[in-house]
Amino acid sequence: MKISGSFLTIQDDQNKITKLNEVTDYMHFDVMDGKFTSRPTLPFKEIIDKTTSVTNPKDIHLMVIDIKKYVDEVIKVKPEYITFHIEATFNPKDIIKYIKNKNVKVGLALNPETETQTIYKYLNQVDLVLVMSVHPGAGGQKFIDITSKIKDLKKYREANNLNYIIEIDGGINDETIKKVKDADLVVVGSYITNHDSFETQVNNLRRSLNE
Ligand code: DX5
Ligand code: ZN
Repeated sequence: MKISGSFLTIQDDQNKITKLNEVTDYMHFDVMDGKFTSRPTLPFKEIIDKTTSVTNPKDIHLMVIDIKKYVDEVIKVKPEYITFHIEATFNPKDIIKYIKNKNVKVGLALNPETETQTIYKYLNQVDLVLVMSVHPGAGGQKFIDITSKIKDLKKYREANNLNYIIEIDGGINDETIKKVKDADLVVVGSYITNHDSFETQVNNLRRSLNE
């Protein structure tokens, strides 16, 4: 399993962002508009300035209503994945096409209360499914158990011969990571960034996975 570092709670500290980049496999960019979520993140222009040291592949998580507008903005950092929420649009197919036309892999995100069945019909068109294990809006929240969704998505992937990856986002620490072992990519923010040694925290996560 790969780890995607979330810098949401350290977005003003460039040194910490650099450190997080060093100990993780991907960098997870949370983008919130204050409409889909109650509070917005920094304007993306400012996020770009603060993340110039990031060398990891970039995984963008759009928690916004006006998805295309933000796609045009985030494309500037040459992301590997751009992920949008199924709850934010009535026309997911159109957005999937829009992102694919920019030659970026596309992800579909699900809030904790949204059923996996809602997105089955789009799964042959996406590269990633992001399952939220907290409510979108903030780092440092408590993990919501979404383990049955991982099982569903793996089963559906196998049965239909698809190859999207499964990403889990929110509330991951050295205990909760054991519950999401079957995912391919896991977002970790505050468990790493609230500690002095980012390296120690990542080692703890890897140890839990091997237990
Ligand atoms: C929540 C964000 C998450 C969050 C993860 O809206 O999408 O990416 O920053 O942070 P932790 O690991 O602290 O839950
Ligand atoms: Zn996120």
